Amino acid sequence: MPTSKTAAIQVAPSLLAANFSRLAEEIQRIEAAGADFLHLDIMDGHFVPNISFGLPVIQAIRQVTHLKFDVHLMLSQPQDYLEAFRQAGADSLTVHVEVDANIGTLLDQIHSIGLECGLTLNPKTPIDLIFPYLNQLNLALVMSVEPGFGGQSFMPEVLNKVKALRQEIIHQKLDLPIQIDGGITPDNASLCRAAGVRWLVAGSSVFGASDPAATIAAIRG
Ligand code: DX5
Ligand code: ZN
Repeated sequence: MPTSKTAAIQVAPSLLAANFSRLAEEIQRIEAAGADFLHLDIMDGHFVPNISFGLPVIQAIRQVTHLKFDVHLMLSQPQDYLEAFRQAGADSLTVHVEVDANIGTLLDQIHSIGLECGLTLNPKTPIDLIFPYLNQLNLALVMSVEPGFGGQSFMPEVLNKVKALRQEIIHQKLDLPIQIDGGITPDNASLCRAAGVRWLVAGSSVFGASDPAATIAAIRG
């Protein structure tokens, strides 16, 4: 993600909602429509009950776009694959606080290979579990659906977590963008922005739009 613009509202289409039979064309279509970066959802069939795509796909699409790759790792053992994702073309790696690993060490490892790092949590996970790690992060992601599938409905109750996180970021005197992911549309994006979200991930609403540029602009607000 462009760190020079962390204060700006940014929109990241999630590739999960693209037509996988024509990925290059789909990515170029949303790049031309004004996407700020590309969100890549990696699912291992273990941490979440679904399998999406992996390293060879990232490596292939790295050749067809200049967009930064924001990689959301829904993996039980992300620590085993950090360097592989870097080599494939990831710019940032976001891991889940629920994984069975030392989270502080995991975040250090991501930085040590030169990538930006994010931390996220499922809708039912208390927001304060990520507070001890905020000063290690480049982004904090609040999930607004249960991870595992695109096309689900936004859970408005997570906005209270966004507000609590924003207060904690201010309390810790950090400049940390809050990202939200799941069910984002032009209709609920304004609520997210008002709660403190700066980076919005949107899959179905952007890739399914007849006018993705207008949809991205509406989500950005
Ligand atoms: C869910 C993923 C999301 C999702 C977003 O596990 O992390 O990125 O694909 O897609 P929509 O916008 O369709 O909910
Ligand atoms: Zn995601």
